[in-house]
Amino acid sequence: MKVTVVGAGAVGATCADNIARKELCTELVLLDIKEGIAEGKAQDMMQTATLLGFDTKITGSTNDYTKTAGSDVVVITSGLPRKPGMTREELIGVNAGIVKGVCENILKHSPNAIIIVISNPMDTMTYLALKSTGLPKNRIIGMGGTLDSSRFKYQLSQHLGCSPSDLNSVVVGGHGDTTMIPLISKATWNSAPVTNFLSAEQQEKIVKDTMVGGATLTALIGTSAWYAPGAAGAALVEAIVRDEKKLFTCCVALDGEYGQKTFALVYRLQLAKMAGKNY
Ligand code: 2OP
Repeated sequence: MKVTVVGAGAVGATCADNIARKELCTELVLLDIKEGIAEGKAQDMMQTATLLGFDTKITGSTNDYTKTAGSDVVVITSGLPRKPGMTREELIGVNAGIVKGVCENILKHSPNAIIIVISNPMDTMTYLALKSTGLPKNRIIGMGGTLDSSRFKYQLSQHLGCSPSDLNSVVVGGHGDTTMIPLISKATWNSAPVTNFLSAEQQEKIVKDTMVGGATLTALIGTSAWYAPGAAGAALVEAIVRDEKKLFTCCVALDGEYGQKTFALVYRLQLAKMAGKNY
């Protein structure tokens, strides 16, 4: 099994680190456009192998896509991260060109790869990857809901005083501060509805804090978060390569499922937001 992570910034490197620690593949390639960064980070990670006890072979590459040849799964994290006060949508101009180019290069050398998109604005980048590659919809997956659901569980656990792992709760909708929908009415804590234990004010706060989870961290850290986004990407890789049959909420094209076609809903919301409309 071979996995490639494109983009050796904080999210890409964290994703690769998680993949290696879990030994999700025998060969892992980390690729970046900036000279030396992927090679350096790959070597640094390899020097943890005996300390952490993994056998995955990690290789770094400066933009040489031949090294990625034959990848089964590719995670795309390339592009600029958010700065404090920025929306994810503001990155669309720069990141669209980057993601399109990455997809073309990847498919030249790994025509059968499943592609996981993390780059922001994640929903739009996933749509772009789908349209520009013409791949079937089950081979292009946007990571957003997986990350947002994990953040939702964190927020719920803080108010319930429980382990996030005992919660069953998901976020659907877009990966945007106003487009994501944390489904609190469906969330359960060991089978009991969480709404049994939370006041209306607490529920409202949990939903709001989940929706602005990424922006809150960007304001605190000064750039986009990376631990949870990287781990969410690795969780999807794990589900695919181990064929775990796990359920994650993700950004995918729909063909009538849930009564929806294509990316219509999320995409419309994003365009409306970019045009300054209120939803
Ligand atoms: C986040 O929400 C990177 O969009 C990602 O942190």
